[in-house]
Amino acid sequence: MRLTKKAAALAMASCMALSLTACGGGSTTETTAAGGDAAETTAAGDTTEAAETGEVANKDKPLVWFNRQPSNSSTGELDMAAMSFNDNTYYVGFDANQGAELQGTMVRDYIEANIDTIDRNGDGVIGYVLAIGDIGHNDSIARTRGVRNALGTGVEANGEINSAPVGTNTDGTSTIVQDGTIEVNGTTYTIRELASQEMKNSAGATWDAATAGNAINTWSASFGDSIDVVVSNNDGMGMSMFNAWSKDNGVPTFGYDANSDAVAAIAEGYGGTISQHADVQAYLTLRVLRNALDGVDIDTGIGTADEAGNVLTDDVYVYNADERSYYALNVAVTADNYQDFMDSTVTYAPVSNQLDAAEHPEKAVWLDIYNAADNFLSATYQPLLQKYDDLLNLKVDYIGGDGQTEANIVNRLGNPSQYDAFAINMVKTDNAASYTALLSQ
Ligand code: BGC
Repeated sequence: MRLTKKAAALAMASCMALSLTACGGGSTTETTAAGGDAAETTAAGDTTEAAETGEVANKDKPLVWFNRQPSNSSTGELDMAAMSFNDNTYYVGFDANQGAELQGTMVRDYIEANIDTIDRNGDGVIGYVLAIGDIGHNDSIARTRGVRNALGTGVEANGEINSAPVGTNTDGTSTIVQDGTIEVNGTTYTIRELASQEMKNSAGATWDAATAGNAINTWSASFGDSIDVVVSNNDGMGMSMFNAWSKDNGVPTFGYDANSDAVAAIAEGYGGTISQHADVQAYLTLRVLRNALDGVDIDTGIGTADEAGNVLTDDVYVYNADERSYYALNVAVTADNYQDFMDSTVTYAPVSNQLDAAEHPEKAVWLDIYNAADNFLSATYQPLLQKYDDLLNLKVDYIGGDGQTEANIVNRLGNPSQYDAFAINMVKTDNAASYTALLSQ
């Protein structure tokens, strides 16, 4: 459908009448650019070759980064150049700090509630081991910090809690962490991070569940009696450790993601997990593309109901305009409420209404998952995306990476001109430029 100049002008005028912020905070001409007809909708004076032929240049197409936020893997600094690549570029993830605090608090609450039985060898030290996903991924870093903060084992380094793995620390002498204390009913207990390690396999894949299973076997063989709690940056690794050792030994294990298998395992002693509201994230990932392609206010069907009734409330997400990022909020899933989270692939009801295909015609989207073997992305996120792509009339090509080689994914975006929009999940958060360079060609 071509937008006539008159229609575009009318849309712009009504948008301006509503107020600028209601139209996504930017210029209307820019937010509609990717919609369909660049020649008529791009800012005046922009007569690129693509615009003249009525096609949108790849560099102007809607782009959403998701799950791995473009950022410096050493410092965590956000890569704003990537997140503002064009006027229709966004990031979709979840609130890492809020979730990390929830995870830490969940573990601490469990220890307090079970203080009479938790210290398995009765030595007065509550020992835990920690599986770290990716030392260069800010979500993983936040979770490590959240657990250390809640348990009092964190040590500050450069104003923030050190998130480095300790290796082993059974004697409590590590300088990366410290012994924490917890007081329950007048008794003080020591909490110690006995061991932690980045779960990276020999080929380089991070968040690697099999590596975590091997690690718990090694740890338990040498100091199993001291391990009272197992904590993991995600459920993939957490479940691997649970199945390899902690389930049989009655040791509570905590993860993150609320994948269906982990939620089910709560009935068998898995301690708990955090839902990062993947149902909201998967929706937002595709919804921002849909809105940009439709040339409507980016808030449509998000903070503002669309004509089908889709709308999110602010208890499930926040939008940070400076970071051009949508962050879903997290919820703790424990023995108290796990029955409500048994299927992690169910779409979120308030945004599950079908869009009309005449008003929102099919568009082609290229989307990659950095590691086809990642438990969370393959068992929870992608099934959700596949339900939302139907509801939003998007034809999505799903590309699965090996978790290690960015080039393996980038090379499969051979002809970006075939697509109307892109959704990118990077192997390494530093690598945004490998994608944007391709789109800029
Ligand atoms: C999830 C992990 C997953 C990672 C991949 C995180 O948000 O919690 O399970 O491996 O994303 O980037």
